[in-house]
Amino acid sequence: MRLNQCQNFHDFRRMAHQRLPGPIFNYIDGAADDETTYRRNTDAFEACDLVPDVLRGVAQVDMSVTVMGQKLAMPVYCSPTALQRLFHHDGERAVAAAAGKFGTMFGVSSLGTVSLEEARKISGGPQVYQFYFHKDRGLNRDMMARAKAAGVQVMMLTVDSITGGNRERDKRTGFAIPFRLNLAGIAQFAAKPAWALNYVTHERFRLPQLDGHVDMGGGAMSISRYFTEMLDPAMTWDDVADMVRQWGGQFCLKGVMSVEDAKRAVDIGCTGIVLSNHGGRQLDGSRSAFDQLAEIVDAVGDRIDVMMDGGVQRGTHVLKALALGAKAVGLGRYYLFPLGAAGQPGVERALDLMRIEIERAMKLMGCRTVADLQRRHLRFR
Ligand code: LAC
Repeated sequence: MRLNQCQNFHDFRRMAHQRLPGPIFNYIDGAADDETTYRRNTDAFEACDLVPDVLRGVAQVDMSVTVMGQKLAMPVYCSPTALQRLFHHDGERAVAAAAGKFGTMFGVSSLGTVSLEEARKISGGPQVYQFYFHKDRGLNRDMMARAKAAGVQVMMLTVDSITGGNRERDKRTGFAIPFRLNLAGIAQFAAKPAWALNYVTHERFRLPQLDGHVDMGGGAMSISRYFTEMLDPAMTWDDVADMVRQWGGQFCLKGVMSVEDAKRAVDIGCTGIVLSNHGGRQLDGSRSAFDQLAEIVDAVGDRIDVMMDGGVQRGTHVLKALALGAKAVGLGRYYLFPLGAAGQPGVERALDLMRIEIERAMKLMGCRTVADLQRRHLRFR
């Protein structure tokens, strides 16, 4: 399968499946427990129909949005995701460059494999730093200072990963960092020698956000130990309020789902929240962000930027979320499969297809701007 044959999410996923060793493909593709939330994330969009307007003079459409103080040329952004160098040797560099070309925002993860400083130099687009709350408050302060010095515009604290989700596919393959593959996992790696050759002939796997704080590279610390030993499951709203004050800029919480918590985020001075269930990778059985969106927008949408992610595969999914009041929509697997399939050109093709789909759908909906998209354009079944 070739890149120019990829027309949508499913094609990119198939191409990534062909290229990536099974344990890596399944790390991206998999989710928690029975993966019901993962499936529901996309299904949720199908429970709602678009009701278009016609004859609205839509020769030109403007799909730009302003979110978290950043002007984006398109209403989607690349959510921060971990370990991108495993998916392609350019890793975060490819995503940063592609997002910059399309005038949109991207995130670098605490578990990113390229430094946030290098990503900042590559992309012209606004940058998010995805942050976890560590037991060591000094470490939290240092990391925020580092992101500020690099010119990162938006701090994004993940609040739905207090403990790891039950990813049974990873258990079956033995996927872990450092690699601790079981026999089945090793056999799956052996089946993709091109990936393996590429992996060993490019730069070494690193986690530069954590270098100097955690000895990951030498194998002394695994990611699961990082989560259990270094991150603080006791964190509370008061701790986050301190962080928000220290950062003193655009600060959002990723993984807020209840109205109660959305109001608390406003109270402690957050400027945004991302409704998210972490791609179904954490709490299986949790509601989809799309289903929860209207309630949250009604409660806090006039005081805080509400974003959402989860299951977005089509331009029409994005339009549905915007019509309910989301300020922007995050993409995860939607750009990760293209990254694994073809690196930067893959991510660019995926973003371009998304841009074209959004433009076409806005025209067919009779909407010239994102503000024209209203709740009256949606009917739930
Ligand atoms: C995951 C974490 C690392 O979903 O964000 O794999």
